[in-house]
Amino acid sequence: KSPFAPRHLLSIADLTPAELTTLVRNAHRHKTGIKSGTGEIPLALRGALAGKTVAMTFSKRSTRTRVSTEGAIAALGGSPMFLGKDDIQLGVNESLYDTSLVLSSMTAAIVARVGPHSDVAGLAKHSAVPVINALSDLYHPLQIIADLLTIAEVNLSSSKTSLGLEGLKIAWIGDANNVLYDLAIGATKLGIDISVATPKGYEIPEQMRNVISQAAGTASKPGKLFETTVPEEAIKDADILVTDTWVSMGQEEETAKRLKAFEGFQITSELAKRGGAKDSWSFMHCLPRHPEEVSDEVFYGPRSVVFREAENRLWAAISALEAFVVNKGKIS
Ligand code: CP
Ligand code: NVA
Repeated sequence: KSPFAPRHLLSIADLTPAELTTLVRNAHRHKTGIKSGTGEIPLALRGALAGKTVAMTFSKRSTRTRVSTEGAIAALGGSPMFLGKDDIQLGVNESLYDTSLVLSSMTAAIVARVGPHSDVAGLAKHSAVPVINALSDLYHPLQIIADLLTIAEVNLSSSKTSLGLEGLKIAWIGDANNVLYDLAIGATKLGIDISVATPKGYEIPEQMRNVISQAAGTASKPGKLFETTVPEEAIKDADILVTDTWVSMGQEEETAKRLKAFEGFQITSELAKRGGAKDSWSFMHCLPRHPEEVSDEVFYGPRSVVFREAENRLWAAISALEAFVVNKGKIS
């Protein structure tokens, strides 16, 4: 690897616990500064991407990731260039390798939403500019920065050196997917325990379990990962209940089979009570949401922080762009 190769953000696993903490803190700083102050970005960041273009290659639909990253690029003075799957030659008429060389010769960064993770890893391998993963089948780092910010806002005491999230417990009830893998990596890095309930046959694959435990190994006091096929077992003493769709983009053909396999996994107040969640439990979901994975009563109820979580995507995107594009991977 060339010493001049840019630093990319492909997964939360790319960050040390201290860097992850800093990204979340910076997201929080920008959020409070902008919302409480003049409504503007800090002086040092204002115009940091002026005159620069950031390519956004999205091979799948997106509401939050697209709006938050386009908004973040604009907030830093740059021009987002959205390239949907029908807009460019990639995948149909041109290789990833050629696309990567061409895009990175004309832009300051590439934000990419892909199917297989190898696609975004391939783009990054040959790109002369930072590549930020906007969702692959394995990871969703921008989501997890926003999620950790949300968890901090909802549960926090503010300690100086860390975010003070150690000892919290997340219960993930649902599918083992991209959002879960990066969340488990981020949580264990910050000392948060995570217990995961998936139906039989939908457990975390061995390879991803290894990635999570390797990532946890970078923390001095890692959170623990616990796995079960019984939702109530995962929920015991949890501070935060989380789920995601049971049918991720690209799995549409499996819909009927999945809906059947996940019966009994819908998050409801009843389930939270039966499982023995902490009295103060809150509910998170990266969205988009479907009623089968969480009842309306929880999703729109007072414990739900899903719309705060969605807004936090903007602050997370600003923080990530600041670190990886403006500061070239120096996270401070
Ligand atoms: N949570 C999330 O990434 O949403 P979008 O698919 O709408 O970007
Ligand atoms: N697991 C979902 C996340 C969407 C933001 C998917 O991959 O479709």
